[in-house]
Amino acid sequence: CGIVGYVGKDNAKNVVIDGLKRLEYRGYDSAGIALIVNGKLQVFKKSGKIRNLERELNKLNVFSNIGIGHTRWATHGDPTDINAHPHTDCTKTVAVVHNGIIENHSSLKERLIKEGHRFTSETDTEVIAHLIEEKLKKHDHFFEAFTQAVKELKGSYAIVAITEKEPDKLFVARKDSPLVLGIGDEETFVASDIPAFLSYTNKVVFLENGEVGVITPTYFKIFDLQGKERKKEITTINWSLAQAEKAGYKHFMLKEIYEQPRAVADTISGNLPWFRGEMPIKGLGNFKPERIQIVACGTSYYAGLVGKFYFENFARIPTEVDYASEYRYRNPVVNENTLIIAITQSGETADTLAAMRLAKERKAKVLTVCNVIGSSATRESDAVLYTYAGPEISVASTKAFTTQLTVLYLLSIHFAVRKNLISNPDIYLEKISEIPSLMEQFLEEEKKKQEVKNLADRFHKVSNALYLGRHVNYPIALEGALKLKEISYIHAEGYPAGEMKHGPIALIDENMPVVTIATKGRVYEKILSNLAEVKSRKGITITVTNESCKEVIENSDFSIIVPETDEFLSPLINVIPLQLLAYYIADFLGYDVDQPRNLAKSVTVE
Ligand code: G6P
Repeated sequence: CGIVGYVGKDNAKNVVIDGLKRLEYRGYDSAGIALIVNGKLQVFKKSGKIRNLERELNKLNVFSNIGIGHTRWATHGDPTDINAHPHTDCTKTVAVVHNGIIENHSSLKERLIKEGHRFTSETDTEVIAHLIEEKLKKHDHFFEAFTQAVKELKGSYAIVAITEKEPDKLFVARKDSPLVLGIGDEETFVASDIPAFLSYTNKVVFLENGEVGVITPTYFKIFDLQGKERKKEITTINWSLAQAEKAGYKHFMLKEIYEQPRAVADTISGNLPWFRGEMPIKGLGNFKPERIQIVACGTSYYAGLVGKFYFENFARIPTEVDYASEYRYRNPVVNENTLIIAITQSGETADTLAAMRLAKERKAKVLTVCNVIGSSATRESDAVLYTYAGPEISVASTKAFTTQLTVLYLLSIHFAVRKNLISNPDIYLEKISEIPSLMEQFLEEEKKKQEVKNLADRFHKVSNALYLGRHVNYPIALEGALKLKEISYIHAEGYPAGEMKHGPIALIDENMPVVTIATKGRVYEKILSNLAEVKSRKGITITVTNESCKEVIENSDFSIIVPETDEFLSPLINVIPLQLLAYYIADFLGYDVDQPRNLAKSVTVE
């Protein structure tokens, strides 16, 4: 989603709409704007493209010095006019826009309803407006009420609010969802992303987690949640608009690789309501699958291959994984006791939709794991679980993949709880909750980045590469090879390391780079022998491994050290260096990383 706020001398309507249009690439299923016109709050919202909202506004002659706007990529609730932001309280004097997910929105909503609040939308955001209204009963100053409300929120948020009470101020809060101020000449902007206001000012102030603030045309004051004022630095940005859209990264793919910690964290919190298994997933009722069949294409298929390990190991449900394009033609054994899990980032892949339809005809229950609300797959299935990756623009999938793994892991634990195989799901939640910071640890270390870059520099001229892995990391070897093929056009093959001796070993010589995933886990010793097999044939050994894996490091020509984690969750970490390696190789070769030749982001033909 995108957020824009403005307070200053200009007509806020025009500035906000202009900002929203510049953020439209981030999501566009509905948009809205709130203005204070002659002391009265006015809200306009429209589903569909921002153009629809603009057309509506152009019919009216409104002028306001303050406004907030939002372009939505739906998470809670369908993309309708009502669910579009801004959201208001009962008095219709406070308006709020929000990015992120309020984890405790259900309990807050329940409490507020008991206190007499009436809700109009299905969003988690509306809770914020009502909570502020509630706090205003005890606190005279709006900022005090706003801060008290923010303190009660759990989850991730970037919030901007306006109020009739103080019609020359924007109120802001941030946790785990970006928010940045733009400092102009007697005008101040706030946005989720710099492109929203870059044509007006390049002086920015980045808000940090746990900060709240008051913004006027001439000054801004930022505080921590305890009320202590924070000193903020103004930074001058020298990006072009095109660079700003990629948040300063050279390509969307790199930006999306770096977004994974946030995307996984959001996916965990967005799926918490059903995770513990106390209640069934909406649309599944008390359905107890005897078997699972996963259907998907491309990278989503590889996520499915990891999912098989989860469903079989934790929930003990026999699981098959098929390419959707193959499933349809193999006359699958499928009936009313089978759960079909369709994994699709876009929700529009033709083969996946066709496989779902076939299974439905044969009375199976269909659950979709998807990134796009309202897409065809979500409309055609019995149940939907969302990945909260946000729009993925690069054709080569990265953050969609790791968020799919997140959902599959959570789902397998959910089923295990419902089958009484696991009694304490929180142990598993704790483990996966560590993943975002471990990802960040790897991504933020400059030395690591340089190591991967050096490898890319050294190997970008090769014409073949082999990727090996075992157990849950076998699909990661496949995904690593696919990434390289897709964007660098180098032939690469992923193989289960134990199977190498039955064929691919014949290919190994001193010119063949072999990328092996060799992190801690039950197959560690085995992979060590596979590594020795490569080494003794003079293959170039590149490993993704942990610091404590001394034997691997000794046997490798090059190793990339990743943080150690639970073996079942290691794919989420181990895939990152492979994404980066493919990225830097393609970049060295000068290829169009975000739009590789012959490929499409969503393949709507069979
Ligand atoms: C295309 C994309 C891949 C994606 C696959 C499946 O081939 O280039 O990145 O993995 O489609 O797409 P879906 O949207 O169904 O996950």
